[in-house]
Amino acid sequence: MKKIGVFTSGGDAPGMNACIRAVVRTARFHEVEVCGILRGYAGMLQGDFIPMDSSSVSNIIQRGGTILKSARCEAFKTKAGRAKAAEELKSEGVEGIVAIGGDGTFTGAKFLAQEHGFSIVGAPGTIDNDLYGTDYTIGYDTAVNTVVEAVDKIRDTADAHDRLFFVEVMGRDAGFIALRSGIGVGAEAILVPETETYIDQLIDKLQRGWERQKSSSIIIVAEGDDAGGAYAVAEKVKAKFDYYDTRVTVLGHLQRGGSPSAADRVLASQMGSEAVKALLAGRKNEMVGIINRKVTFTPFEQAIKHHQKINQELLNLAEVLSL
Ligand code: F6P
Repeated sequence: MKKIGVFTSGGDAPGMNACIRAVVRTARFHEVEVCGILRGYAGMLQGDFIPMDSSSVSNIIQRGGTILKSARCEAFKTKAGRAKAAEELKSEGVEGIVAIGGDGTFTGAKFLAQEHGFSIVGAPGTIDNDLYGTDYTIGYDTAVNTVVEAVDKIRDTADAHDRLFFVEVMGRDAGFIALRSGIGVGAEAILVPETETYIDQLIDKLQRGWERQKSSSIIIVAEGDDAGGAYAVAEKVKAKFDYYDTRVTVLGHLQRGGSPSAADRVLASQMGSEAVKALLAGRKNEMVGIINRKVTFTPFEQAIKHHQKINQELLNLAEVLSL
């Protein structure tokens, strides 16, 4: 393989730059040329490519976002769009590709590989940690630390004013950020999309806290919770239990930015490097993952179809520790 392409797509995640760096440096180590594809599938379709060498990725390991930029692309969902992208890649001489992103990224990669014969290996980059085939995704650890830092600050003011706070964290379909950060901040309750939320049970818990003269409480709500986001849940609780002065904070996109944690930098470096080595060894159409500290490969088909299951033991732990 003489030339590989690399791109980032979907929601950005801290550590994507560290992954790009590892892809470029590992490829150059093996004397393979690298083409950076800008703005994900949108740039691929337009032939928006840049040559990359070791110095193109200097001084980026510590930066959030992605130097290759990211975008969502409707045109790539069509066969004609993918044919155009394939034409651009072929005329650039790209034989293999490292795709950094989440399940939307891998769905596109699967079709591109099937229809046009490219070898593609994926590296899981999403703060949501919802991908099957890896214990952790690139960006998750940083996002959790960002939430913990923010909620610790909210706890100070909640405590000063004896308030009840509902804090919404990201996770359209998954509660991984909510669960881990909720345990980390000692939240009084954690609401996740994977389990049904019973407002009356939540109120009972708050009521017990009130009777114990608990002055403040923090409820972490994953944005995709079945009872709604933090505003909706706060309204439902207030309708029946109005003892506390209540506030809502939506942390939003600040969870996606920032300098990656050490854990994310190392994870992204390992995954980027393994993805290139896999391509050179002839692997294709698989996502690299790390499970129990071992490098693994999961076919795109499986990675897309299944979802990482939320850790029931951590859910139980959160319940016990918040009583
Ligand atoms: O990256 C995944 C995610 O963080 C989801 O949890 C969230 O719902 C979504 O991105 C929002 O992304 P955007 O605003 O880019 O559509």
